[in-house]
Amino acid sequence: MLIRPRRIRNTESLRKMVRETRVDKSSLIYPLFVKEGTHIEEEILSMPGQFRYSVDRLPYKLEALADAGVPSVMLFGIPDEKDACGSQAYAQDGIVQRALREAKKQCPELYYVTDVCMCEYTSHGHCGVLKGDYVDNDETLKLLAAAALSQVQAGADMVAPSDMMDGRIRAIRECLDKNGYVNTPVMSYAVKYASAYYGPFREAAGSAPAFGDRKSYQMDFHNVREAVKEALLDVEEGADILMVKPAMAYGDVIRAVKEATNLPMAAYSVSGEYAMIKAAGKMNYIDEARVICETAAAAYRAGADIYLTYFAQELAQYMDEGRIG
Ligand code: PBG
Ligand code: ZN
Repeated sequence: MLIRPRRIRNTESLRKMVRETRVDKSSLIYPLFVKEGTHIEEEILSMPGQFRYSVDRLPYKLEALADAGVPSVMLFGIPDEKDACGSQAYAQDGIVQRALREAKKQCPELYYVTDVCMCEYTSHGHCGVLKGDYVDNDETLKLLAAAALSQVQAGADMVAPSDMMDGRIRAIRECLDKNGYVNTPVMSYAVKYASAYYGPFREAAGSAPAFGDRKSYQMDFHNVREAVKEALLDVEEGADILMVKPAMAYGDVIRAVKEATNLPMAAYSVSGEYAMIKAAGKMNYIDEARVICETAAAAYRAGADIYLTYFAQELAQYMDEGRIG
């Protein structure tokens, strides 16, 4: 036998030498929920180990992340007041804006990304303003641009629109540029599917739509050519980084978008992925740590350069320990 594939699998050092996918902590972004009030650190029911933090409690978590070597966080806001046009999304003293000012002061070594969307801020829970029962695309663009601008003014290093309105990357880019923020990058949730994997997030943020669903703006999970269409549009509109979301069930989509564009690729391992692994881990049906590593490697192998995950802190540790790397 001339060819024995097993020959290069016989020791750990050899396996590491021939490894095709290498990952490191610089690619990790940790999603984080901030809410109004003080002394709050409340666990999210369907996401054990994940918490909603009030602004005063946030720095402790940020320090822990920075100590673990996680370089970046993505902030989500949970406002007390919601209304039809989501005005807390673009209020100067909105929850994310206040959290950013404090976080940048307390923990300036982290890189701050903010999610730009309306659904956490609207009383009806949709990602834009309504005209009747329809989410009005072009009216929503103005609010998204205002939200992005106010986040950047409060200190966001990068904005990440997740609403899936058409034309939002251009609208945000133009608004940031007009206000002098020409160097603030936009990471587009370019390819975001209407997914049941967001269930735990909506519990965490109280952002489930009050009626209907998000299928008129988020993508149909049967499609992949449409993912390339969305991605190419966002490239034209000035996106700096493209994201595919969810990650776990969408490796083919990550790969397709990676091959069709030349922008850095992010993959978002969403709340439902986290919840499933935690639940199965708790039951001892799976080895949780090993499944976390294997799932992360799958996203990188599919083509992700950046990985957003609620397991970022654990993954940083596993990378240190050489369990993935
Ligand atoms: C806001 C937003 C959502 C997620 C990220 N940004 C929820 C949604 O679209 O319903 C989901 C993240 C997760 O499930 O972890 N539009
Ligand atoms: Zn939304």
